[in-house]
Amino acid sequence: MFKLPNSRKSTVGFSIYMINKICAKVALFWYYTAYMKKRLLSGVQPSGVMHIGNYFGAVKQFVDLQDKYDSSIFIADLHAVTTTQNKDNLSKNILEVAMDYLACGLDPEKVNLFKQSDIPEVAELAWYFNCITTVSYLERATTYKDAHMKAKEVTAGLFDYPMLMAADILIEDADIVPVGADQKQHIEYARDTAQKFNNTFGETFKIPEALIMKEVAIVPGIDGRKMSKSYGNTIPLFGSDDEIKKAVMKIVTDSKTPEEPKDPEKCNIFALHKLFLQGESLQDLRARYEHGGLGYKESKEMLLNEIIAFISPMRKKRESYMNNPEKVISILKEGANKIKPRITEKMRIIRDNIGVNL
Ligand code: TRP
Repeated sequence: MFKLPNSRKSTVGFSIYMINKICAKVALFWYYTAYMKKRLLSGVQPSGVMHIGNYFGAVKQFVDLQDKYDSSIFIADLHAVTTTQNKDNLSKNILEVAMDYLACGLDPEKVNLFKQSDIPEVAELAWYFNCITTVSYLERATTYKDAHMKAKEVTAGLFDYPMLMAADILIEDADIVPVGADQKQHIEYARDTAQKFNNTFGETFKIPEALIMKEVAIVPGIDGRKMSKSYGNTIPLFGSDDEIKKAVMKIVTDSKTPEEPKDPEKCNIFALHKLFLQGESLQDLRARYEHGGLGYKESKEMLLNEIIAFISPMRKKRESYMNNPEKVISILKEGANKIKPRITEKMRIIRDNIGVNL
């Protein structure tokens, strides 16, 4: 019989032991990533043309998170009815935002992308929440207070916005809700409401956590304030070259001549360059600013080229969806179908706990 020398035996034994250990770790890791991924959920308002601030402030971060979590991203079309009350505009906006997200790299194989109105159970759940929520509590919402300051009359829908949002989040047992800082209070409403429901009807909901997305040093708009549709200072992400050029050329600067040295950290154009340039190219540009000899016009032209090169592949993708809206509609339907079974089961538990199931 073939015999291994003693010293070899222990090496083989050790190797087998190590292989076993590694296999166990790999299996555990696989199990963990496949079955134990935390659930992420977020909603996006279908509200018109996507700009560079939206991309770096939110969309890119969703795309970066899609591998790490069991993710659902939905288009908050029920919420949108509070502001868009025009059939054609709403349908168009829903489709456009879906195309924007898909073009930016959201992968429907990894993320359940759907529209809120395909899960009408959220409206039922919001009703139950209304029955345990007080008017004075909703009156403390900053969104409501702002709207109330601006207009004499606020719709009941807008007033109730936080309860529908709580329903979106809690119906899916979301662990993590990535949102911008302006939505933080809404997540607090969802957490409070879960607690209140659990206290009233028995343990039903998980308490979700907000993941406040960093604003990538706040993308400045062309006037130097935060880029936002409400300030009218945006650079459209999927605009034509001309539209993008028009916005870029309007970026506000001081009146230094090309020859004068400039502080890049005080320049709105440079702040935008930072989103598109890294490493050496950014350092080179910084040096040219500090040295003098680089005019704002040239810097803007460089930025324009950077933007166009950056969005070109996404633009192509978006065009292919634009030529095939049926495909987008079916992605949204499929996204909703994928989560339907767990929504139905969750609603059964909720109705049981409330006492409407006989
Ligand atoms: N209110 C959110 C916004 O305006 C959109 C939204 C609706 C949402 N329901 C949600 C975000 C649930 C996160 C979770 O941006």
